[in-house]
Amino acid sequence: MNAFTMHGGTLHAENVPVRNITNEVGTPCYIYSKAALESAWLAYDKAFGDHPHLVCFAVKANSNISVLNTLAKLGSGFDVVSGGELERVIAAGGDPSKVFFSGVAKSREEIAFALQQGVRSINIESPAELERVQSVAVEVGKVAPISVRVNPDVDPQTHPYISTGLEEAKFGVSMQASLHVFQQAKAASHIEILGVACHIGSQITTITPFVDALERVISLVKTLAEMDVDIKHLDLGGGYGIVYNDETPPSSQEFMQALLDTLAAADIQLPISIEPGRSIAGNAGILVTEVAYLKENTEKNFAIIDAAMNDLMRPSLYGAWHTISPVTPPQEGTPERVYDVVGPVCETGDILGRDRLLAVEAGDLLAIHSAGAYGFTMSSNYNTRPRAVEVLVNDQYWATIRQREKTSDLFALETVIDW
Ligand code: LLP
Repeated sequence: MNAFTMHGGTLHAENVPVRNITNEVGTPCYIYSKAALESAWLAYDKAFGDHPHLVCFAVKANSNISVLNTLAKLGSGFDVVSGGELERVIAAGGDPSKVFFSGVAKSREEIAFALQQGVRSINIESPAELERVQSVAVEVGKVAPISVRVNPDVDPQTHPYISTGLEEAKFGVSMQASLHVFQQAKAASHIEILGVACHIGSQITTITPFVDALERVISLVKTLAEMDVDIKHLDLGGGYGIVYNDETPPSSQEFMQALLDTLAAADIQLPISIEPGRSIAGNAGILVTEVAYLKENTEKNFAIIDAAMNDLMRPSLYGAWHTISPVTPPQEGTPERVYDVVGPVCETGDILGRDRLLAVEAGDLLAIHSAGAYGFTMSSNYNTRPRAVEVLVNDQYWATIRQREKTSDLFALETVIDW
């Protein structure tokens, strides 16, 4: 669903005029739609049909506890990559027994915390990590449920920074090496093998790489069965890509059906989990910003906005496209020009959108779309900029779910030493 649409000439978030929100909380401001989060999660859940499954939201995409709580209430599981994310899930009312814990360098403290909380699976990313999990499990007197994250060496044809399933990536272990890790796990006193985990990358807009990866995982499961290693679960990693501009990703239904068909063809009935982040939260959020100044030099027109790369890093980091649209139509006579939409941060790369045709004046509001995933979570305080306020909309209601930081918050943990 598209929760951000124009009504009566002004952009609404569900049934709330965006301007009503920014009049109270200011800009830059992240706005999320509860209905859009819910409908995207439910579409995945439904697409599995009767197949035993768990849809685990990838917390790294959007970790606001109100967002997590919205999904937890639907019965969502969660994919976490740090003890901090697990704490957030618990604070949000999520069920730790529906949590999968990934990440290449889990600390002893994080592993102990995860075991005490009773997570569903710790996803092992190296033989050394398996040894660490075994030793922590002995220490805390628990048996650790684990999956081994394998690297199927499939090219997901996405941005190199978000490709994870190639042999050259730091994630997971190769198919071949995983055989040894599973044997090591089987022999360990405090380890229980749950399954195989695999994640090949993010913002993938074709089904083929997912199916290729699953076929390789299936052949691994068969080899493991011959070695007397019983696999009880498959964790198939993140979801499909979303529309930022002109991409044509599959629907949840097409995506899941392709995976279920691949399993059925191999006569595999195992329960599966999937860890979508972007395709649940991405188009459920916008970043609203005000045009601070218009400026031109000999080469370019600039619309300088009050949001910057520290608020939304994706354009600077990946050259990612985010659609930028006016919140209200331009005043009569406002000229249409091609602008670079830039932020106030002192970096040439602080560009939120290049060469955008806009009719804007200073003081106008702009919406930066598809910002609900990897937006706020990747934001920083660079240039001592307080992070943006976050708002959740529910039909005609809205509430602040994270206050704008105050400048004093940013140096509250610092000390002046009188040397
Ligand atoms: N599971 C694992 C193990 C992951 O590493 C990721 C994402 C996901 C699930 C969720 O994938 P998704 O459904 O969101 O595609 N900051 C980048 C994206 C990094 C993704 C990292 N891993 C961006 O803004 O494009």
